[in-house]
Amino acid sequence: MKRIVVLISGSGSNLQAIIDACQLGRLKAEIVAVLSNKADAFGLQRAQKAGIAAESLAIGDYADREAFDHALQQKIDSHQPDLVVLAGYMRILSGPFVTHYRGRLINIHPSLLPKYPGLHTHRRALENGDSEHGASVHFVTEQLDGGPVILQASIPILPNDTEQDLAKRLLSKEHLIYPRVIQWWVEGRLELREDRAWLDGQPLGASGAD
Ligand code: GAR
Repeated sequence: MKRIVVLISGSGSNLQAIIDACQLGRLKAEIVAVLSNKADAFGLQRAQKAGIAAESLAIGDYADREAFDHALQQKIDSHQPDLVVLAGYMRILSGPFVTHYRGRLINIHPSLLPKYPGLHTHRRALENGDSEHGASVHFVTEQLDGGPVILQASIPILPNDTEQDLAKRLLSKEHLIYPRVIQWWVEGRLELREDRAWLDGQPLGASGAD
């Protein structure tokens, strides 16, 4: 069974979707630990409820980003994961950390990348008058939210939609695509090669798999 460590910062609804997929047997992997940079992240409680080791590291205990990420890396590696999954982990990762997990570090981002890397993606989609919005699962590389896209899901933007409306509707899509991509990785169907995502031996385009 492949071993997964999940990093979170908040509610952990994507974590919950991954836990549920494991429990239902749709995802054939074991979540061996959930780690957070926030002690009060609700996702830690979700992990504990599911009997998964859950722990937080306090940024204030470390001199700088590199020191924090190094400690985080050591903590992660103590669980000997095959794959590291970012699920609402809201800190920029340092270069050595990203390099260490190259090809086995994935993220979900609430926009149709390459549109709207960074924060406030729902607000930016509304402000730009976009007709659709979405989420992207991608391999993590040193470029912030810039790694190769594996799979996207989109939703229409309806008249009078608020940021909260978009966030809520999009999360339900995120909960479908993230466990699916993780299962692809677990089955050995997915890899990061030559800065591209490959599925079943085929390179994926800029918007990932269909
Ligand atoms: C999700 O919408 C995820 O895409 C986003 O944070 C939310 C976490 O929700 N991630 C990022 O913005 C990363 N840049 P959750 O804690 O309920 O899974």
